Amino acid sequence: MKIGILGVGHLAEYLVRGAVGVEFVLSPRSGDKAAKLAESHRCAVAESNQAVVDLCDMVLVCLPAATGLALLEGLKFRDGQSVCSAMAGVSYAALTASVAPAEAFCAMMPGFANAFSAGPSLLYPGDAEWEAFLALLGPVHRFADRQAFETAAVFGAMSGASVFLLRHLARWYERQRLDAVTARRLVAETFRGNAEVLLQSDSGLDEIAVGVTTPGGITEQLVGVLDQRGALAAWDEAMDAVLARMVPGR
Ligand SMILES: NC(=O)c1ccc[n+]([C@@H]2O[C@H](COP(=O)([O-])OP(=O)(O)OC[C@H]3O[C@@H](n4cnc5c(N)ncnc54)[C@H](OP(=O)(O)O)[C@@H]3O)[C@@H](O)[C@H]2O)c1
Repeated sequence: MKIGILGVGHLAEYLVRGAVGVEFVLSPRSGDKAAKLAESHRCAVAESNQAVVDLCDMVLVCLPAATGLALLEGLKFRDGQSVCSAMAGVSYAALTASVAPAEAFCAMMPGFANAFSAGPSLLYPGDAEWEAFLALLGPVHRFADRQAFETAAVFGAMSGASVFLLRHLARWYERQRLDAVTARRLVAETFRGNAEVLLQSDSGLDEIAVGVTTPGGITEQLVGVLDQRGALAAWDEAMDAVLARMVPGR
């Protein structure tokens, strides 16, 4: 599998690290990042963005969302080519228009977790080749329904925000004089363990929540304070705001 990447920043590096065995052709910009990645992961660096497109049938777009579409419009794509965008909030219709006559696909993923092949990816619409690529980076969710994809794609922000939550919790332990390594591991292992419960248990979410909450106990106390302060409800407000930004009018 040979994939050209336009935009070699954070996301591109994570995906190159995770997708072992794929032959990548990188766009040349981004300081010396493309050159370093080429050296450490045996990728080629093309002479220009157009050269990336000319050399590869599959092109992955990891450009800044604000400027990416305009840049794609300035490139010449061909029939039979396949372009997948990971740019948050770029509409499928706009992407399709900017890469015609190539086929267009939208994806979303957490980024860093994909470097460890542990990050879920979303793909709209389904495509065997892009699914095979994304499967190297973690579980893949294929969408036939555009609106469902757009809703699910809010998880890009949810994923990033969860890192802030994990850091916030680790810092609380550190302020209580727990050493940083133990704090970090404790927080990560706790969330990983509970994620495994959601993935492996047949119980519903409400049943799981009841099961971990002793009446009058410490979980009930902690959730009570968070609820009183609107901390859990604030997630709804924040997710709504991201969805409205990514899909204006929704
Ligand atoms: N970071 C993540 O984990 C993540 C996860 C999911 C989706 N995404 C999406 O992925 C995209 C990239 O995000 P990022 O975090 O990787 O951003 P980033 O680190 O800023 O990377 C973007 C890269 O694109 C390069 N670039 C800008 N204009 C270019 C041009 N005309 N030609 C070639 N390259 C150009 C930039 O180069 P310069 O540095 O030289 O400007 C930069 O290296 C965004 O649309 C974002 O929504 C990111």
